[in-house]
Amino acid sequence: MKNDWGDIRKNVLGLAGFFALVAGALLAGGCAGERAETAGNIRVGVTCYDESDTFISELLDCFREELAEEAEGRAEIAVAVRDAAGSQRVQDDQVAELIEEGCRILLVNLVDRADPSEIIDLARESDVPIIFFNREPVAEDMLQWDRLYYVGADARQSGVMQGELAADVILSDPAIDRNRDGRIQYVVLEGEPGHQDAIIRTESAVDTLKSSGIELEKLSWRNANWNRAQAQNRMAQMIGQYRTQIELVLANNDDMALGAVDAYGKTNYTEANIPVFFGIDGTEVGLEAVIEGTLRATVYNDKEGQAEAMAKLVLALATGQGMDELEFEKEQYIYLPYYKVTRENAEEFQAKGADS
Ligand code: BGC
Repeated sequence: MKNDWGDIRKNVLGLAGFFALVAGALLAGGCAGERAETAGNIRVGVTCYDESDTFISELLDCFREELAEEAEGRAEIAVAVRDAAGSQRVQDDQVAELIEEGCRILLVNLVDRADPSEIIDLARESDVPIIFFNREPVAEDMLQWDRLYYVGADARQSGVMQGELAADVILSDPAIDRNRDGRIQYVVLEGEPGHQDAIIRTESAVDTLKSSGIELEKLSWRNANWNRAQAQNRMAQMIGQYRTQIELVLANNDDMALGAVDAYGKTNYTEANIPVFFGIDGTEVGLEAVIEGTLRATVYNDKEGQAEAMAKLVLALATGQGMDELEFEKEQYIYLPYYKVTRENAEEFQAKGADS
């Protein structure tokens, strides 16, 4: 679908399919294909891999807010957000359209993180810099051009923190080893294959648990593509197979941890037969679940920090000012740290979300 920039007037922040207007000012008319000329009028194009992903939709909301804040008094910015709905081909077409419509900066949440070449070629031909976010291109692709950036977080750190949180809980509560065999029987719910946050989170969480002196027995694992409903279904299969043997569920994100909780909700198991669950993200529902105690802990994937870095980078690229305030690694990467979340501090993270 091709949007006309004139439609900006009919759309407001947060509507689907759409142009969101930030910094309180309308872009002057203009039809598709026309390029914004002044440094003050900036069109920014965003395409995400799947807008129904809980973390991505929360991150995008933060980005809109952060961009409005950063732009205030400095530039008039209009943002077009497209949803690739899981198709790399659709995303490639969206990038071509966004460039044609005059976007001067692109933010790309790749569908297939190993396949950005077409997007990079299109952007380079028009000299439109790209900020990749959340789904990290492989290092060789980032070297294709010096106007490519990445904003995200270090997958290993989130896995280590999940492992440390789980180790704290297990070491402080012997009842978690319900069959008292000196080992923790566990299962894993893994994110999309090929995503930097899937395998690395699992491996580092498990390694951390082991190096804390905890004996583990892996019963099984399933891929649930970050998705709550899929995780419920996969967890139900594992419960069918292992009944009450599962003592620990490690999930690569909160949505899948909650899907696992949902699956137990459909059984008639009592508290005494339900494992402990750990997620990653600290989404709205994730934090709520930590406060209620359904998830024992999670790891905060700092969407406010990531959105702020993305917004600052947009402004720096658009205005040529402020690049030196950004903390790059290897000149192209900005990684925000993760944080551990337990019942004790979950409300602080809820407040962080509410403040941004
Ligand atoms: C998040 C997941 C999300 C994925 C999307 C990960 O960093 O933890 O919740 O589904 O990114 O790419």
